[in-house]
Amino acid sequence: MRYIRPSAIWTKRGDRVSKKEKKTKGVITRLFADMGKYRLRFWIVVAVVLVIKLCLAAAPKVASLITDSMARFVNTGNYDWGYLLILCVVLAALYLVGYGSDGFINRSLVLISQNLALTLRNRAGQKLNRLTIQYSDNHPLGDTQQRVTGDMVNLSNGIESTLPSLLGQAILMIAICIMMLFTNVWLALIFIIAIPVTLIGLRIIAVRTKKQFMKTNAQLGKMNSLVSDTYSNHTVVKAYCRVDEKEAEFDEMNKEFEKLFIRSRFTSGFMRPYSDLMAKISYILLCLAGGIMMLNGTLTLGEFTAFLFYGNMIGVPIAELSVAFNNFQDSLSSAGRIYEFLDEEEEPAEAPKQELDTDRLRGEVSFENVRFGYTPDKTLMEDVSFTAEPGYTMAIVGPSGAGKTTLINLLMRFYDIQSGSVKLDGIDTRDLSKHNLRGAFGMVLQETWIFDGTIADNIAFGKPGATREEVIKAAKLAYCDSFIERLPNGYDTYISEENSALSAGEKQLLSIARAIIADPKVLILDEATSQVDTKTEEVITRAMQEMMKGRTSFIIAHRLYTIRNADRIIFMKDGDIKEVGSHEELLEKHGYYAAMYASGISAE
Ligand SMILES: Nc1ncnc2c1ncn2[C@@H]1O[C@H](COP(=O)(O)OP(=O)(O)OP(=O)(O)O)[C@@H](O)[C@H]1O
Ligand SMILES: [Mg+2]
Repeated sequence: MRYIRPSAIWTKRGDRVSKKEKKTKGVITRLFADMGKYRLRFWIVVAVVLVIKLCLAAAPKVASLITDSMARFVNTGNYDWGYLLILCVVLAALYLVGYGSDGFINRSLVLISQNLALTLRNRAGQKLNRLTIQYSDNHPLGDTQQRVTGDMVNLSNGIESTLPSLLGQAILMIAICIMMLFTNVWLALIFIIAIPVTLIGLRIIAVRTKKQFMKTNAQLGKMNSLVSDTYSNHTVVKAYCRVDEKEAEFDEMNKEFEKLFIRSRFTSGFMRPYSDLMAKISYILLCLAGGIMMLNGTLTLGEFTAFLFYGNMIGVPIAELSVAFNNFQDSLSSAGRIYEFLDEEEEPAEAPKQELDTDRLRGEVSFENVRFGYTPDKTLMEDVSFTAEPGYTMAIVGPSGAGKTTLINLLMRFYDIQSGSVKLDGIDTRDLSKHNLRGAFGMVLQETWIFDGTIADNIAFGKPGATREEVIKAAKLAYCDSFIERLPNGYDTYISEENSALSAGEKQLLSIARAIIADPKVLILDEATSQVDTKTEEVITRAMQEMMKGRTSFIIAHRLYTIRNADRIIFMKDGDIKEVGSHEELLEKHGYYAAMYASGISAE
């Protein structure tokens, strides 16, 4: 199974940057930028959390004032009930504000996270259509699916549930420190020294956990790939009796996932006990030092009780902070994977110099000194030149791997050539937009493509907005009306790629009907008949000949009688054109084609 992770990430400007540099450049900054109009709301939430936590941190201080004034009343006998009442009201108000705004915070964070997820999902959806053909050449489907769906859920959950505690506890911790400093500097120092020691320890654990989380997420991507591969090829898997092997492969991946998952949770599980232990140690030190100071008379009873409160309170934020930080790392690793996907190279924006009127097209196609390789270091085509006059039928033949499909790929500009030019009606195809260019072509390939929908929808795909009459006319021309009418719901029969009652030949005829309805000026048939029996092929050939009338067509086929009638035959080998001419001319040459024809005749 292939599993390729992108080795480099591309910035908007197209420069290569290292992964680490990009990570530090800030997933967080990008997330923040993508919050869009919800950024203000985010800051309001931060401000509200700040106020709440300050209230909660101030409460023990007010409580300590109450304790001290009570002590003073008892000692002096001078009862100031008004002052006491004010303190009690302030304390009640602080707790009311402190616990009363949770609803607002939760609602806001759900809004912010869901909006962010919506933005990113939209962008990912658009991205899927803009990726280069090379991307799908070397990225497994499951991994991309995981990034677009699973990682997205992980991220929004992270913002919704982790961010409030991360934010709240961090603020609470700072607020408590400030309040402690105001109450008693020396006692506060015990905590202020303990906090960084705890945080450094937590950081060490977190770095390990983060690596393990990333591995766990990547493993999930691998498993997704295997599931989608096996599911979409389940007939092949069964035919080759590889079910057990695939099961074993999945089992192994599953075990590896379990191992990684347990390891990451095990490491992260250390965080809480460690921070609890540190909090308890500081608490004991506080009791000792506070007790001594009270005996010395440098600390009042109220201040000491406030410190006991703070000591208890600060243990919670540190522990929660560590857990929240941990989960947040997981979400950030998902966000990183989403941005990695969003940064994948796109088809470059086009600035077409010319516009082709596809209705007035003559259909002349020419290749001039074309040089091309799928990878820059390996040239497949050295120097290919030929011209197809308007209306000509061009057959492209040659052994497997000769470059026949590549020639078509270059004509459609699925890949760009390295030098030379490909022209349509004398216009360099690079001067046209891809949309404009591809509008001139109709393609029927060996692998037919059926999407979920009715038969009529599948045919009408060739021409958006086609009427039922046009669909039926195209179906008749493609000889598919007879089998369509035999289906229970005729043109409204629902079909899909995985689950369709159509034979390979029937799907092929549907593809031809789809090309006919599109009415293209140039027709491309790549092995369109190679998987059907000779009788069906005859039907398809008749349908194709109908369609080829008055159009320039390129036919790649192995069966000789399909080729023989072509106006011109191009023989390719090792990426280059070896011979061009009509059937008779090439036979007279006694070259590659003649040899292939001789062996073909004996084989047929
Ligand atoms: N996407 C790709 N990336 C890299 N190399 C490719 C790619 N597609 C094809 N090739 C290579 O380019 C060469 C020509 O392939 P091409 O598909 O054009 O052959 P073909 O003549 O159509 O063969 P066939 O008759 O089997 O369809 C082959 O060596 C093939 O391995
Ligand atoms: Mg091919």
